Parts: sequence; C-alpha cells; structure tokens
Amino acid sequence: MTPAPLGEALSALPEVGAWQLVPGSAGDTLLVAGPHGTAEAESHTGHSGHTGYASDEKATAAAAASGDSAVNGTDLAELPSLMRLLDETALLTMARVLDRTRLFRTPVPRTAADVVTALGAAPRHAWIVRRWLRTLTEEGRLSHDPATGHYQELTAPTRTEYARARRTLDEARHGMGYPESMTRFFLAAADRLPLLLRDRTSLQEVLFPQGETDTAEGNYRDSAPSRWANHAAAELIVHEARQREGGGRPLRVLEAGAGVGGTTEAVLAALSPAPLDYLFTDVSRFFLQAARTRFGTRPGLRQARFDINADPLAQGLAPASHDVILAANVLHNARHLGRALAALRELLVPDGLLVLVESCREHYQALTSMYLLMSPQPDEERWFTDLRAGQDRVFLTETEWAKQLDAAGFRPLPVLPPAGHPLTALGQHVIAGHARPDHGRPDPDRVARALAQLPGPTRPLRVHAVDRVPSTTTSGATR
Ligand SMILES: C[S@@+](CC[C@H](N)C(=O)[O-])C[C@H]1O[C@@H](n2cnc3c(N)ncnc32)[C@H](O)[C@@H]1O
Repeated sequence: MTPAPLGEALSALPEVGAWQLVPGSAGDTLLVAGPHGTAEAESHTGHSGHTGYASDEKATAAAAASGDSAVNGTDLAELPSLMRLLDETALLTMARVLDRTRLFRTPVPRTAADVVTALGAAPRHAWIVRRWLRTLTEEGRLSHDPATGHYQELTAPTRTEYARARRTLDEARHGMGYPESMTRFFLAAADRLPLLLRDRTSLQEVLFPQGETDTAEGNYRDSAPSRWANHAAAELIVHEARQREGGGRPLRVLEAGAGVGGTTEAVLAALSPAPLDYLFTDVSRFFLQAARTRFGTRPGLRQARFDINADPLAQGLAPASHDVILAANVLHNARHLGRALAALRELLVPDGLLVLVESCREHYQALTSMYLLMSPQPDEERWFTDLRAGQDRVFLTETEWAKQLDAAGFRPLPVLPPAGHPLTALGQHVIAGHARPDHGRPDPDRVARALAQLPGPTRPLRVHAVDRVPSTTTSGATR
C-alpha cells in the first residue's frame, strides 16, 4: 500500500500523532500512536527496565531466588568457560566447512557472495554464511577488507585440532547440564552443515530424530540456563496469580511457541494446585500433539495452534482475554516485533503480565545448528521488517527488548538474571512487562473505521495502538 493516501487519512485524526505501516504476507498492519508517540519521544522507563514499582522489585527478587534454587549444585562460575568451549568448537566447524570449498586455499580475495555460491547455500540461509564470515573475522581466523568487502587468509583447523575440539564438546555439554543427546545433535548438525545449508536435509530431522524430543527437552528444560530462566519465569507468574487472587476466576495464561513444554512444566508445577486456565499454543501441530501426550488431561489445560506472526483475533483469540502471556524462546521469530508485541498486548487485560525468555547474546554453536531453523521460509518474500531488517541477525539485546516492550505499551520489569549474576554472561534472560492501560493511545477501532473509505486492497488489515512507533520510510508523524 502506498503510504501517501494513508498518511492523509491519518492526518485528519487528531488522536493519531505517529504511525507505521508494517508489511505482512497476509496483509499490512498499521501501528498508531498518540500525539507524543514518535520514537524520539521520551520513554516511560528510560529503557533501563527499572520501573521503581515496589511490587515489580519484589516479584523479580523472588523470581531470581527461584532461578537460583533451580540450579543449586551447579557451579555457575564455570558456565561461561564451558560456553566458550562450545563456541570454539563451532568456530572450528565453520572454518572447516569454508576451507572445504577450497576458496581460501589460494590468496585470491573473496566476497561473501562467492562463498555462498561455492557452498551452494540456499538463498534463505545466505545470512548464516555471512554471519560465519563476520564471526571468523572477529575471532581472528579470517581477514576482511571493509573497503572492498573481500575476505581472505582463512585459518582452518587441522584434522587433529578439530578432532580434539569435538571431544571437548561433550565435557562442556555435561558441565552445562545438557543431556548426552545434545552432543550427538551438535556433532550431527556440524557433519551435515553443507547439506543443511543447501536445504538438502533439514535440521528438524537432526533435532527430532524419529519424532523424538529428548534433545530439545534437554535444551529448553534441563540445561542450567534454561532451568534458571524457566523457574524465574514461573515465579513471576506465581506472583501475578497472587496479585489476582480473589478475582473469582482461575488465572488465564496463554503460552505462545510452547514447543516441547520446557517452560510449561515449570510454570504448571509452580502454579499447582490452584485452578488454572492455560492455553498451550504453538505454530506447529507436532508440538500440540506431543503436549497432549505429555500433559494428558490436566484440568484447565488446552492446546491450540497460534502463530505470533498472524492476527490473534483472526485465530480465534479475544481481546483482553488473558492475565498472563508467556513466550519462551519464541518471540524473536516475530517478523516485526512491534506488531507482534502490540497484538499480544491487546490479548492481555489492563496491567496483565507478559513474560519472555530470550537469548540476548549470539552463540556460535547455534550458528552451526539452531540458526538453520530461524532462516526465512523458502517462499517468504521478506524476513524481519523491524529493527533487525537487513542486519543478518535474529536476537535483540536486553536494552533493545526493554525499548520494544516500552514502545508497544508495556511497563518493563527489571531484566533477569540481575546485573552481576554469573548467568548473565550466558545471555539467556527473562524479560517481562505489565500492559499499560490505554490512556493516551488512539482507539484502533475508530482509526480502522476512519480508514474504511480507503480502497479495499490498500487498507491495512489490522490496526494496533502502541505508545511509540519508530521512524521508518513507511511511517509518519501527523503533526
Ligand atoms: C526454541 S523453541 C521454544 C521452546 C519452548 N518454549 C520449549 O520449552 O520447548 C521455539 C518454538 O516456537 C515455535 N514457533 C516458531 N515460530 C512461531 C510462530 N510464528 N508462532 C508461534 N510459535 C512459533 C516453534 O514451533 C517452537 O516450538
């Protein structure tokens, strides 16, 4: 849709101060903010995530204590060096795969495109190859000339070096509390990288051999960083349940991208035996079926398919129908975070709680494995259309998350683990916020009605009200 007629229509609405049109495969979404809703406007929190609310401070302190008790007996101080061992093995894997193209065995400068072509990588995975080149450069294993964009002088591992690194991987895996199957997964993914990059085989087949979910469970439930984050997230939800006690109905929780239920398990256990209305969702029916088997007929637990990239109302969810929304290691899959967060906020009651678990640090091991699941779909026209557009990255920093939550209309809680905690180095964080009331935001229904005069195909499919919109080419300030 061309922004000009849209901008004109919006400028006639005094309650709309700024807007952004977000493209989507099923149709465009419009984000509208009030008169002070530009990215430049001062945020409510200063983006630090420190809100100063006594109840938030109490909840996050209890959550951190719960996380700590979940990893009792684990030597937390050792975890960053174990993580580095995993990273180093991955670096050698990348260097080895690139070396096997023979491109770097002669002193000819190469572009990233040359490397993608030599690997025969599918266009959707080209960003992974570019990330390898950048990472190897940063780690001193490749030289890069920023003026020409050329790469050369790759330091590839010898066969012995690589074999030694692969053996240390199991030691690191064990120390971090991952199951044995994780070592098999990392090694199998490393061995299949040339085929995976060409889309000749899929990472799902390596991660879920014969439909088994042990490796994913080990990752998202049993590893030390996940145990900490899951129990901290569960405690935040317990705190919310207590605040809402006496409301005359069970806590209504929506979990998005619940997957193998690593976080679900901790949350259900923490809330038990209180009555509950828990909607376990995922975009993949495979996980919904697995959840039925795993959690059986626990009263109050239902499963449904839900895609965070599509309009929740069109998927049968009602506005203001949930007290808590949980999304553990899933929201980075949103093609536009501002849009996805605004849509989730509409599903929450005023002051409802959003809890995210997110990795805020790049892991090299993931660059040779899990990232293959994060590339755009083969038929997807665009990938990320938010602050990550054109950046070859998936994850946000803690500060970026706090800004995103704030702009979408959430009052962020202090990020967990707290500063100085030994687990912060690993990058797995619990990021939460309360939905701010609608005060000062345009009424999305009124905006949609005002746009009804625009020609059908050029009208946005949905309108979400937010507190701030970033300035982009398809956005505007109306006054
Ligand atoms: C890294 S796993 C999350 C792990 C999960 N929390 C657990 O404990 O197993 C990512 C999950 O997000 C789901 N997912 C990916 N894209 C999604 C989308 N657009 N909407 C909803 N879920 C999505 C995947 O199917 C997968 O189950």
